[in-house]
Amino acid sequence: MAASSYTKNILCIGAGYVGGPTMAMIAARCPQYKVTVVDINAERIAAWQSDKLPIFEPGLLNVVKEARGRNLFFTTEMEQNIHDADIIFVSVNTPTKTFGEGAGKTADLQHWEKTARQILKASESDKIIVEKSTLPVKTAQAMERILNSNDKGIVFDVLSNPEFLAEGTAMADLANPDRVLIGSRTNERGIKARQEVVDIYANWIPRERILTSDVWSSELSKLVANAFLAQRISSINAISALCEKTDADVAEVARAVGRDSRIGPKFLNASVGFGGSCFQKDILNLVYICESYGLTEVADYWENVVKINDYQRRRFVGTIRRVLFNTLVGKRIALFGAAFKADTSDTRESPALYVAEQLLEERAAVVLCDPQALANAKHDLARYAERIEFEPDPYRAAQGAHAIALLTEWSQFKVLDYARIFDSMEKPAFVFDGRNILDHQALYEIGFNVYPIGKPKLSHFA
Ligand SMILES: NC(=O)c1ccc[n+]([C@@H]2O[C@H](COP(=O)([O-])OP(=O)(O)OC[C@H]3O[C@@H](n4cnc5c(N)ncnc54)[C@H](O)[C@@H]3O)[C@@H](O)[C@H]2O)c1
Repeated sequence: MAASSYTKNILCIGAGYVGGPTMAMIAARCPQYKVTVVDINAERIAAWQSDKLPIFEPGLLNVVKEARGRNLFFTTEMEQNIHDADIIFVSVNTPTKTFGEGAGKTADLQHWEKTARQILKASESDKIIVEKSTLPVKTAQAMERILNSNDKGIVFDVLSNPEFLAEGTAMADLANPDRVLIGSRTNERGIKARQEVVDIYANWIPRERILTSDVWSSELSKLVANAFLAQRISSINAISALCEKTDADVAEVARAVGRDSRIGPKFLNASVGFGGSCFQKDILNLVYICESYGLTEVADYWENVVKINDYQRRRFVGTIRRVLFNTLVGKRIALFGAAFKADTSDTRESPALYVAEQLLEERAAVVLCDPQALANAKHDLARYAERIEFEPDPYRAAQGAHAIALLTEWSQFKVLDYARIFDSMEKPAFVFDGRNILDHQALYEIGFNVYPIGKPKLSHFA
C-alpha cells in the first residue's frame, strides 16, 4: 500500500510493553491505517525492527511480522512523524516520582510533559492526542492546557484510552479485550474526536465492548481497576498468613469463597505477592490523589493493599531464614523465576528480585534462574554482580543448593525432574513454593521439606 493511500496516520510515542504490542495489534487488524511507533531509545527501536523484540510476549512476534513494513513502522524520528499524524497515542512511562513533593507516591510526569511539548513544537494541524499511559486524574486537562496554549491556531483534543492488557497475555487481551475505554470531553468536539478512536477499535472489537465516558472517569477507572485487582491479591495473601497459623489450606478457602458468583474464582491464588510496573505505582497514585483531597481514611484503606504486599514478601523471606536454621550465610539458594509473573521478561517490581536482594543481604549465595527474564534481572541487580549467579538451566541452578524458592509461575518449573534435582542438592533439602504451583506431596515423598504459601508445611522433621 502506498503511503498516501492510508486512511489514517496513527503515531504512538513510547515503544514499551504497552506501545509496542498495542500498535502491533492495531496495525495487524487495520491494514488501511499507517501506524508508526516512535521512541527516544534507539536500541529499543532497533530491536523492534529485528526478530529479537525488546520484550517477550507470547504471540507478539507473529503479529509484528504480519504488519511490519506494510503499515507498521518503528523509528526514532519524532518531529516529522508528529507533523504527519492525525492521531497520536502517548504511551511513555509514568513511574512513581522519586523526588520532591509526592515522592514515593504520585506519578513522575516529566516524560509525559516532555512529550506534550514535543507534540506542540512539531504540529502544524489539528490532532487528537490519546493518553495510553496510566496517569493521575486530570492529567488530560493539563495536557490540553499545554497544547492549546499554542499561537498557531491548532486545536488538540485530548482523550483518555487507558490500557487494560496484562503482560504475559497481552496479545490475547488486545485481540479480545473485556472492554476498551475511551474518555473524552462531552461537548460536540470531544464526542467527535472520541468517535474517531472508537472507529479504530471497532475494526475488530464488538461495539458493545467499547465503552465511552468523560475523561476524568476514564482516567480514574484505570487506577481503580488496578487497585481492585491488587486488593484481591492482598486479601487472599492476608488470609494465607492466617491459614499458616491455623493449619487451614488457603487453596481450599479460595475454592469455597470463589464459588460465590458474587465473588468469583479469579485472582484468588495466594502467592509471595504481586509485582509488575503497575499495581503498586497505580495504587500509590490513587492514595496520593485521595490525600491531596483530604480523604485520609480512603487513602489509608488503599495504602494497606500495598502494605500487605510488602508484608507478604517479607514473611516469605522470614520463613526461608527461620527454616534454614536462622542463618543463610554462604548457603546456595536457587530462585526459580525472576520475572514478576509467567510469560513475560519484565522484572519491574518483581517479588523475585525483592527476595533475591533480601537473601543477598543475609549473605546467601543466590542463583537466579528464569527462562526469559535473566537479562533484565542482571541489569536490575547489577550492584550485586559479584555475589549472584544467573543460570538459565534449573538443574544447574539447584546443584549443591540448600533450598529452592519458586517465585514465578512458569509452567516449565512444574515439570522438572525433581528427584534428579533432589539428588544434586545439599541435605536436608527445602522447597519454598511462593506460587503454590508444585506438587507438594510428590516433592515431600522425594525427600524435600516443603513450605507452600498458606498451607501446612510438609516436613520430615518431627
Ligand atoms: N506494562 C503494562 O502492563 C501496562 C499496562 C497498562 C498500562 N500501562 C501504562 O502504560 C504506560 C507505559 O508503560 P510501559 O510498561 O509500556 O512502559 P515502558 O517503560 O516499557 O515504555 C515506555 C517507553 O516510552 C519511551 N519514552 C519515554 N519518554 C519518551 C519521549 N519523550 N519520547 C519518546 N519515547 C519516550 C521510553 O524510552 C520507553 O521505551 C505507563 O503509564 C504504564 O503505567 C502499562
